[in-house]
Amino acid sequence: MRSLITLTDLYAARRSFPGRVGLVPTMGYLHEGHLSLVRRARQECDHVVVTIFVNPTQFGPKEDLSRYPRDLERDLSLLEPLGVDLVWIPTNEIIYPPGYQTWVEVETITRLLEGAMRPGHFRGVTTVVAKLFNAVQPHNAYFGQKDAQQAAVIRQMTRDLSYPIEIVVCPIVREPDGLAMSSRNVYLDPGQRKAATVLSRALRAAQEAYQHGERDAAKLKGKMKEVLAREPLADVQYVSCADYDTLEELDTVKGKALLSMAVVVGKTRLIDNVVLE
Ligand code: PAJ
Repeated sequence: MRSLITLTDLYAARRSFPGRVGLVPTMGYLHEGHLSLVRRARQECDHVVVTIFVNPTQFGPKEDLSRYPRDLERDLSLLEPLGVDLVWIPTNEIIYPPGYQTWVEVETITRLLEGAMRPGHFRGVTTVVAKLFNAVQPHNAYFGQKDAQQAAVIRQMTRDLSYPIEIVVCPIVREPDGLAMSSRNVYLDPGQRKAATVLSRALRAAQEAYQHGERDAAKLKGKMKEVLAREPLADVQYVSCADYDTLEELDTVKGKALLSMAVVVGKTRLIDNVVLE
């Protein structure tokens, strides 16, 4: 496994890969969720490139950029045994050279849900992911269902910009008690960590109602809100029942739908979702 920083080194390494290249973009502080994407890429591609870059432009002014957890040495030791070919760890100056002024913006779908709560977030995500696509030129790129809207936005961008890249979305990896794995879970103290299971419990309650035939979106959201309301440490930002592709809110669930939520526990903003189909 090689790790490198500069674009010149990346281009040279990329040219040495004759087969199918899989890209796994990350912000580091890796956990089993990230590693599941790497394993999938390893199965499906001849060469696997992982990028580690804490992208400043996707953090809002009041968000956690400066305290975002980082441990590069540990990340590399987790990736090495998985058969990763290359880890690209660009600096801020490489991605955003002085005088930088070009942005990639996906319109409608980024205004909903996370986009409504975090203005500018997806503009940062799509800009950096477009730059990673351009630099690495992968055949496949791997994203997690954990960030369901991010995956939908990336799919939209890939279509709109005609990238010849297959976007592969992998299932959410959870802790044994149901909490979706996230680099941000380290912010939770033991009491908050326990409270944080309320997200997956709320989703499960709604999913069970769906399995028993409930199709009324307001009632499915009501199920989630009921469970969330019983957890005093949980401050709900939104609860949604939306069309899987457009992310528009539904009245009635007919085709594939996404139940999702954002909940603040302590100072930590957590998101989770489940797909109904
Ligand atoms: P990051 O939060 O590091 O996540 C990298 C990838 O891992 C994303 O595709 C995310 O959806 C996936 N992932 C995170 N937790 C997961 C879990 N529990 N199960 C499955 N997949 C999980 O998402 C980003 O970084 C950034 O926005 C990035 C795409 C790298 C652009 O900066």
